Amino acid sequence: MSDAHPPLRSYGRLKARPIKPRQAALVEQRLPELRIPEGPVDAAALMPDARETWLEIGFGGGEHMAAQAGRHPDVLILGAEPFTNGVASAVRHIDEQGLSNVRVLDGDVRDLIARLPDASLARVFILFPDPWPKARHHKRRLVQPEMVAELARVLRPGGALRFASDWADYVDWALARITESPAFAWQAERADDWRTPPVDHVTTRYEEKRLGDCAPVFLDFVRV
Ligand SMILES: C[S@@+](CC[C@H](N)C(=O)[O-])C[C@H]1O[C@@H](n2cnc3c(N)ncnc32)[C@H](O)[C@@H]1O
Repeated sequence: MSDAHPPLRSYGRLKARPIKPRQAALVEQRLPELRIPEGPVDAAALMPDARETWLEIGFGGGEHMAAQAGRHPDVLILGAEPFTNGVASAVRHIDEQGLSNVRVLDGDVRDLIARLPDASLARVFILFPDPWPKARHHKRRLVQPEMVAELARVLRPGGALRFASDWADYVDWALARITESPAFAWQAERADDWRTPPVDHVTTRYEEKRLGDCAPVFLDFVRV
């Protein structure tokens, strides 16, 4: 399946630092049970009483994912993140908050999405994805027509997609790629709708660093 897309390229800033022994032990203990099993994803098997399923793409340290899971205990939240430090941090949040409605893929989200049934998700979050600002690296951006088509496939009609970035060029790029798909309708009516963090947004440590070249922009789309 990983042959179906270009290999994952790591964005330089996310260089791994050693994981502390206590955190490594927690990952070793908890990750096997939190990891989404191989093969087609069966939400009913992962959480039989889940009202719906959400996906967070590139959850970083997992703060947003864990906070949303805590607020919505009846929702199954899937998350994918390839970098070990982020996964270790997320496992710690899940463990500390006693969450039983989060499952993770410690890998490339494209491999997870390919295993999701059609119309199986109610919400998808892509928050502050790696910007790859140089033009020659734009092809490494997560939001590509193929990704948009896959998200259209796995989101149910009426489902929601949130994209956020503090890189102006990536905001324009994502808005163009997503609205060029007839499957998505952008919800904004006025500038405040993209300039003001949505009421249900949870700020992450990464977001607070303000590494981009503009104030955070939030784009909310509906799967039509
Ligand atoms: C800039 S960080 C933002 C993390 C988090 N969303 C936040 O706002 O704090 C982007 C994250 O996307 C992850 N990422 C990049 N490509 C990915 C992929 N193909 N699948 C899953 N995650 C990916 C990176 O490892 C990184 O942790």
